[in-house]
Amino acid sequence: MNAIKLLKNRFVLNSPYRILHLITSKCNCRCGICNLWKNSLGHKNDLTTDQIIKMLDDARNAGIIFYDALGGEPLLRDDIGIILKYAKKIGLKTTVVTNGYYLKEKHNEIMPFIDVLAVSIDSNDNLHDEMRDCRGLREEAIEGIKLSKNNRTKILINSIISNKNLTKAYGLLELAQDLGVSICFQPIDLIKGYNENLIPTKNELKEVFNKIIIFKKSGYPITNSYEYLKFFTNGKKYVCCASKCFINIEPNGDIISCMHVHDKKWGNVKIVKLKDLFKSKEYNEFFIKEKNCNICNTACVIESSLFYRFNPTFLMQKIFSK
Ligand SMILES: C[S@@+](CC[C@H](N)C(=O)[O-])C[C@H]1O[C@@H](n2cnc3c(N)ncnc32)[C@H](O)[C@@H]1O
Ligand code: SF4
Ligand code: SF4
Repeated sequence: MNAIKLLKNRFVLNSPYRILHLITSKCNCRCGICNLWKNSLGHKNDLTTDQIIKMLDDARNAGIIFYDALGGEPLLRDDIGIILKYAKKIGLKTTVVTNGYYLKEKHNEIMPFIDVLAVSIDSNDNLHDEMRDCRGLREEAIEGIKLSKNNRTKILINSIISNKNLTKAYGLLELAQDLGVSICFQPIDLIKGYNENLIPTKNELKEVFNKIIIFKKSGYPITNSYEYLKFFTNGKKYVCCASKCFINIEPNGDIISCMHVHDKKWGNVKIVKLKDLFKSKEYNEFFIKEKNCNICNTACVIESSLFYRFNPTFLMQKIFSK
């Protein structure tokens, strides 16, 4: 069913199918890899429940299929259950990306409405809490995962590889296996002026990702496609098609194409109709410019670009993967 909807987006609507919503600016961590916590005080400008519900209706109307709630820390929103429930009610597939600190407290309220739960854990030891400057975070996240498991939600650990955790992949794989969940690895994206000191060299990344490929071949539950993992071992470039696959909504409702780098704003969801935006000449011209950009490492950008370009090896892997 999703496949048919995705094909319709690609060939009939020619518009994005996923919304990445930074649902709040609030965050309880102070991560070295990510500076979004610095915006915590700005949470007074976060969209209200009603504004988000209106945005979800508009997104559905514009052909959006997937709603991803991230942040900041999404579980810090008191209305997170209401929002996810509404997204499910109107037929959207929901993903929540969380640092997991509040999962124990919130799992009953949110899990019935989540299709994919991604919990960020970057090292299966104290390094994780150190890197995120949040004591007890790893243990809370692990306990939260255990309580959140159910028959309908896919749960995965999301691990960002920086130069601090190059040797930690194996421990994370063991953790994922013990918990009975999948795992996704991605290299850190550069945030200029903030995390330069954490960026691994090309050779360091190559070594880690070669190992991850071997682990995947030996049956560990790694969700990344081989095509994706190989980008960091063979230095190949991809053609970015992100703006045809997803759109980012900032906590205050501003619409942006690329989270980490391009600061191109497309107005605010309180005013702009997404359907009109996706059809606009300016938006479609941006897509042509974007194709020459190649700086993001996230699976979201690279795998959706492979999908958009109908990369045959990638598609076969996705069709036949569990
Ligand atoms: C911005 S966070 C928001 C959700 C939640 N606060 C969390 O940490 O999971 C979403 C995802 O981006 C990842 N992330 C943060 N900084 C990153 C960076 N510089 N490069 C790549 N991914 C990053 C996080 O680890 C997390 O998995
Ligand atoms: S990665 Fe998540 S937990 Fe860390 S600062 Fe960014 S938003 Fe907060
Ligand atoms: S690779 Fe460039 S164009 Fe594509 S999402 Fe990243 S910053 Fe945007």
